[in-house]
Amino acid sequence: MINKAIILAGGMGSRMSPLTKAVNKQLLPIYDKPLIFYPLSVLMLAKIKNILIIVNKGQLEQYKKIIPNGKNLGIKITYAEQDKPRGLPDAFVVGEKFIANNNVALILGDNFFYGQSFTNQLLESAKLNSGAKVFLYKVSNPESYGVAKINKNNKIISIKEKPKKFFSDFAITGLYFFDKKVVKFSKTLKPSKRGEVEITDLLNKYKKSGKLKAGFIGRGGAWLDTGTIDDFYKTSAFVSSIENRQGLKIACLEEIALMNKWIGKNEIKKSIKFYGNCNYSQYLKNLI
Ligand code: G1P
Repeated sequence: MINKAIILAGGMGSRMSPLTKAVNKQLLPIYDKPLIFYPLSVLMLAKIKNILIIVNKGQLEQYKKIIPNGKNLGIKITYAEQDKPRGLPDAFVVGEKFIANNNVALILGDNFFYGQSFTNQLLESAKLNSGAKVFLYKVSNPESYGVAKINKNNKIISIKEKPKKFFSDFAITGLYFFDKKVVKFSKTLKPSKRGEVEITDLLNKYKKSGKLKAGFIGRGGAWLDTGTIDDFYKTSAFVSSIENRQGLKIACLEEIALMNKWIGKNEIKKSIKFYGNCNYSQYLKNLI
């Protein structure tokens, strides 16, 4: 079982400067809410309640203003600061104490997931006892991501980080489920040419021992990018289209907490007070 997860929300967001000079990228809006709500909603849909958010040194106060401790959501949020980005697997070194002797999920703070059957896939993945699991998504620009080659039986046979030459069009998305060995493995990794430890090297360790599983987000699902300003607008447009068409919000954290029966009407009322008079609060009012 996986009961703990880390959101890695570090990084300088340098590709989006000057927007990210004063505000961390994960606090910028994807349509009507901060980007960080979306990965956090994914973990909540997986029914994971104990969450560590890793942020850049100096940016803790920004985060605490919007997500103080998770109490309003019936979950537990703790924070850790990272003095500089050292690569994704560094999250397991920074989070060593938090993980203790448990299995753990990792989601990147800037990853956006959406899809009909995705919640069931998440719940299934959170049952992981040993090994590791990743989600693959077919993309038209695999060279921008970690990429996995699969065989006829949908098993991963090879992994590469940002391959320059075509290798496979299955990107490895920024959501990972690991058993407790992850801390030990992460500590043995050596930095790549870009000076950071790579998640693909960590995944390769699991693959070598035949312990890496792949899940797939099919063509009816969405894994969208938020890497550049253009991506921010495209992802915002996606959320806006769906939300306005259905009158339902994507990644309304309080709604998920309510559906999971982690909170009741009182917490929703507190949240309405906290957010103030806005469209998001109106939506919360309609829930109760
Ligand atoms: C990172 C990982 C890559 C993964 C991607 C998902 O890339 O290194 O394997 O596919 O996140 O968002 P980066 O954001 O460091 O370029």
